[in-house]
Amino acid sequence: MNVLVVGKGGREHALAWALRRSTLVENLYAAPGNPGVAALGACVSIEPEDADGIAGFARDNGIDLVVVGPDGALEAGVVDAVESLGIRAFGPTRAAAEIEWSKVFSKQMMREEGIPTAAFAVFSDVEGARAYVNDVGAPIVVKADGLAAGKGVLVCRTVEEAMRALDEVMTARLFGDAGEHVVVEAYMEGEEASVFAITDGESVMPMIPSQDHKPIHEGDTGPNTGGMGAYAPTPVIDERALRDVLERIIEPAVRGMKKRGRPFRGLLYCGLMMTSDGPMVVEFNSRFGDPETQVVLPLLEDDFAELVYGISEGRLPSEPLSWKRKAATCVVVASGGYPGSYEDGKKIHGLGALEAMDDVFAFHAGTAMKDGRLVTRGGRVLGVTALADDLRGSIDRAYEAVGRIRFDNLYYRRDIGAKGLRRIAQIPQSG
Ligand code: GLY
Repeated sequence: MNVLVVGKGGREHALAWALRRSTLVENLYAAPGNPGVAALGACVSIEPEDADGIAGFARDNGIDLVVVGPDGALEAGVVDAVESLGIRAFGPTRAAAEIEWSKVFSKQMMREEGIPTAAFAVFSDVEGARAYVNDVGAPIVVKADGLAAGKGVLVCRTVEEAMRALDEVMTARLFGDAGEHVVVEAYMEGEEASVFAITDGESVMPMIPSQDHKPIHEGDTGPNTGGMGAYAPTPVIDERALRDVLERIIEPAVRGMKKRGRPFRGLLYCGLMMTSDGPMVVEFNSRFGDPETQVVLPLLEDDFAELVYGISEGRLPSEPLSWKRKAATCVVVASGGYPGSYEDGKKIHGLGALEAMDDVFAFHAGTAMKDGRLVTRGGRVLGVTALADDLRGSIDRAYEAVGRIRFDNLYYRRDIGAKGLRRIAQIPQSG
């Protein structure tokens, strides 16, 4: 079949890589893709949010399946546009993707369905929000309602910080219209983890749990980024916790969406806080996570193209998914200065050395070709993933690979996976 991947980041490179491995895929395209994806298929210059452009390309080029990566494309209605032409798409409709693109919708749905999440209130006037913050105190979390490129969630340690956050989001409109409404919610204490589940809109099948590292610096300090690295499987969610997450969180959410006349079909990403009261939802996302996809998909044994085509037809696999008995770690290599300002156009060296390493992948996130050379173009430049028999081994191999990459002012966190290692050391060993 002919498959079109929508998006241009590390997640989409990982999706394209997983699809390319399938014998079912004849021609692979990406809109717009990136230089990494270009090694796997043809990149066409259509932006992910151009729903009509993507649907038109799919129609004119005999595309059998469109796999949508980014949230913005889902909000723009790419799946609706593609399906209206009778072409299969993997991903939820715009109405179903509201579980991500409106925090207000998502939190209200969780409350109505009894899904564990932090207590919250919704505001469209800054004075009301300020009064609420004064009333409940800090720490507290301010969330812009709409999509804000992963930056719309502000964790505030003091009331003063929360007041500043409200001013930035609601008055100065730092995130544009995304700040028309805000959710102000209680701070949750615990460790974060991510669970992806594929669903046909009725039934659910979990993927292996993973853990992202959002802050820019070691020890989870500094401002939040799109994600500086990930590993899988994470010991933060054991089998029992995963069952709990499925029964108390993911299945009720899927039932809740169906009940609201917007069945969710595709990949539901559940961002969790593992609190002393059990798992609670930080956020639902309507698509694969980035960089978590770069560790989850390389561990999948099953044919990914068959899996996502099946879901696009409303079919879940009859057997649970199979996974390699290995661990994967992804270290994001970023431009120095990110998530603040940084310079593009730095020549990237050393990627060739990674090709000789087994089970090591360099997923392109912010790269471009300039005068025939690969250069940086973005904050997160590459996601370097390595597989090994255990987490320690995959971390060591990922850092060995990262050590071979060079460009001016390169930056990466040096503690990706360390929380996982600490957790494993606390688990009593049997035998
Ligand atoms: N890993 C965070 C996200 O994909 O939203």
